[in-house]
Formats: sequence, structure tokens, C-alpha cells
Amino acid sequence: MKFARYLMCNAALANIPKQIERFSKYSPSPLSMKQFLDFGSANACEKTSFVFLRQELPVRLANIMKEVDFLPDKMLCTPSLQLLQSWYAQSLMEIVEFQEKNPDDGKVLSNFTEALVNIRNRHNNVMPTMAQGVIEYKESFGVDPVTNQNVQYFLDRFYMSRISIRMLINQHSKYTRTFYNVQTILAKHIGSIDPNCDVVEVVKDACESSKMLCDQYYLTSPEVIIKQVNAKAVGQPLHIVYVPSHLYHMLFELFKNSMRATVETHECSPSLPPIEVMVSLGDEDLTIKMLDRGGGVPLRKIDRLFSYMYSTAPKPVIDNSRNAPLAGFGYGLPISRLYAKYFQGDLQLYSMEGYGTAAVIYLKALSTESVERLPVFNKSAWRHYQTSIEADDWCIPSKDPKKLGKYDVSV
Ligand SMILES: Nc1ncnc2c1ncn2[C@@H]1O[C@H](COP(=O)(O)OP(=O)(O)OP(=O)(O)O)[C@@H](O)[C@H]1O
Ligand SMILES: [Mg+2]
Repeated sequence: MKFARYLMCNAALANIPKQIERFSKYSPSPLSMKQFLDFGSANACEKTSFVFLRQELPVRLANIMKEVDFLPDKMLCTPSLQLLQSWYAQSLMEIVEFQEKNPDDGKVLSNFTEALVNIRNRHNNVMPTMAQGVIEYKESFGVDPVTNQNVQYFLDRFYMSRISIRMLINQHSKYTRTFYNVQTILAKHIGSIDPNCDVVEVVKDACESSKMLCDQYYLTSPEVIIKQVNAKAVGQPLHIVYVPSHLYHMLFELFKNSMRATVETHECSPSLPPIEVMVSLGDEDLTIKMLDRGGGVPLRKIDRLFSYMYSTAPKPVIDNSRNAPLAGFGYGLPISRLYAKYFQGDLQLYSMEGYGTAAVIYLKALSTESVERLPVFNKSAWRHYQTSIEADDWCIPSKDPKKLGKYDVSV
């Protein structure tokens, strides 16, 4: 019996590279916000969603698994990366099991939903595990510009793929009974999408949570002033079709950073300057600007703030308590930018060293333009990992000024 199980297990393992090859040949199919809403609407059917996902999820998993192989060998050998790859392989194989199953069988549908929930749980710790792998590599081998460039390129794509896979699973798991009950309470939410997301309300929620954390840590927190402009319907609340949890994530990270910078810069002042938030809705963009007076960051360092490898944040202690640290892996900005980019938006920082920083989130105002932005493994991606850093095609100023004076007699 044991031997039979061993053989089956080995057969499944041997099959993994074949399945990765098979599904990575397809490009992922980005969904628009409208398609997400249709999939989740009251008259949408679980069967259609099942048929789409049993193909699309393996495609997204396989595409990103192909890219994992381009990480430096020594990083791939770390226990964290080994564990991570085993999760991806297992999840891929679990979904592949449903390829030949009958979509008209109710039991198949409920088993599929259950499998997705298990997969989502299995992947809960992907981010800290990946971050751990990067830290282990960095501690043993240091960071060089080529590795930094490749790891940055890879992780932006890897985490974007993860955001998208979780989005698909969340939208589908609304078919489970427990989730459905929550749905009726959260009336009008479609899966994790709010067709009438009140942006200023989310700003206020994120602000409150960050303020609480800041008060807990520093025993004080700056005041926050929120202003809004609705250029499309003057005086009306700012509503867009969006995923409130994604927006909350970005704003919470920005508030934590701004509050920390404000408090630390004004440690010795009798009062703290306020953080100003401006939200505006135009025809194309919904823009949120957060301006603090936390001393700013020099231009030279701005790119590094988005780097996974050059993160200066001290290694956070991973525990299961619910206390989120005010500074964690140093992934606050890069991951928030991915959330913004996921539906074709962006997140940018404009800083004035000596004064403060403006962080700006751009989102699409129209749901027809909010379409998933997904990585695809193809020749261009492959080429990215092959390029090494070439010699600069701009002159590098020498440290010692050239002696050009014609009366210089010391030469
Ligand atoms: N508003 C700001 N003012 C000044 N410095 C900032 C501001 N926002 C970010 N920074 C700098 O950028 C760094 C990176 O920010 P990021 O949010 O990515 O990571 P973190 O805050 O260090 O850790 P984490 O967000 O993961 O808990 C911060 O450590 C801080 O030095
Ligand atoms: Mg942060």
C-alpha cells in the first residue's frame, strides 16, 4: 500500500515540469473590472467561473513558475525558496486534477471551491517566505547591481501574479456558503469589489488604523486633513468601482510612512505638522495625494525605496500576533505600487529633502479602463534576465576636478 502511494506520489512529481511547460505556453487572460463584476453578479454561474479558472489559474501559476528558475541558483537553493516552489507545484497539480472533471456535477464544483480555499491558505505566507529567501541570500552573498536588477524585475512580476491569483480565488470563493452569508451582510459588494467604493471613507479608515498604531508606538500622532474635489459631479461623494481592501492597503502603508517620518523629524518640536490628503476625481483619473512634512528623502535615494533588495528596514520578527509593525520588511512602498498598477494605476513619490514628501496614488476613474495588468513569460521577459549591466553611455564625473587652469604651475 505504502509502495503504491510512493509510486503515485513520484509519478505526480515527475509530471510537474510537464504541466509547467504545458500551461506556460498560454498567455494569461487579463480580466476587466466589468468582467469581474459579471462573473460575480447574481445571475452568473459557478460553472462558467469553474471552467475559466481551471484553465486560467494553472496558466498564471505556470507562467510565473517559469520565471522563478531565473533567480540566482544560490537563492533558489535556500530553504525558503525550496518551500515556496513546493507550494506552487502542489497548487498547480491540485488544479490540474480538475481538467477532465464534469462541470455539471455539483460535487465537482464544491470540491473545486474547497481546493481553491486550501490553496489560498497554503499561500498565505508567500510574502514573508520570499522575503526571508532574499534576506538569506543577501546575508551570504551581498548585493550586486545585476542581481538587484533581476530580483527587482522578478519580484515585481511574482507579487503581481500573486495579487491576481488571489483576486481570482476570492471572486470565485463567493460561491461558498459561508462567504455568501458575509456577502449578504456586506450588501452590494461583489466578491472583493465594491461597485460604489467611497474613496474618502477608505482614506478615513486607513488613517484611523495608522493613527492608532502610531499612538501606540510613539504616544502621539499628527493630525490629518482630508480634502476632496469631484470634478465630474460637484459636491458629490467620490465613488469608483474598486477593491476597497487594495485601496486600504496602499493608504495604510502611505499613512504609516508619513506618520513615522513626521513624528521622528519633529521629535523635539512642541507640535506636529499635519498630513494633508487631497482626493480628486476627474474624467480619467481618481488621484489621491498625501503630503507630509516629515523631512523628505533625497532624489538619489527615491528609487531605492522601491527596491526589495536594498530595503533598509530591520528584519521583522515574524509572529502570529495581530500587531502589525510600523516598519516591516521594507516592502510597504513596492507592494503598494503593485496594487496601484494592478488595475492600470500607479503610485509615485515626489520628495523635497529638508521639507517633506508627497505620495500620489493614481487609479482609473472608469471601470472600463480598469483591466488587470499581468506578467507573461515570453521572449522579452527571458531577455530581461539575460541582460547584464553594460557600461554607462553617460560620462561619469571623476571625483578629482581636472586641473584646467593654464596658469597652474604645480603640474
Ligand atoms: N513619507 C516619507 N518620508 C520620509 N521617508 C519615507 C517616507 N516614505 C517612505 N520613506 C522611507 O522609505 C523607506 C521604505 O518605505 P517602505 O514603506 O517601503 O518600507 P518601511 O516603511 O521601511 O517598512 P514597511 O513598510 O515594510 O513596514 C522607509 O524606511 C523610509 O526610510
Ligand atoms: Mg512603510
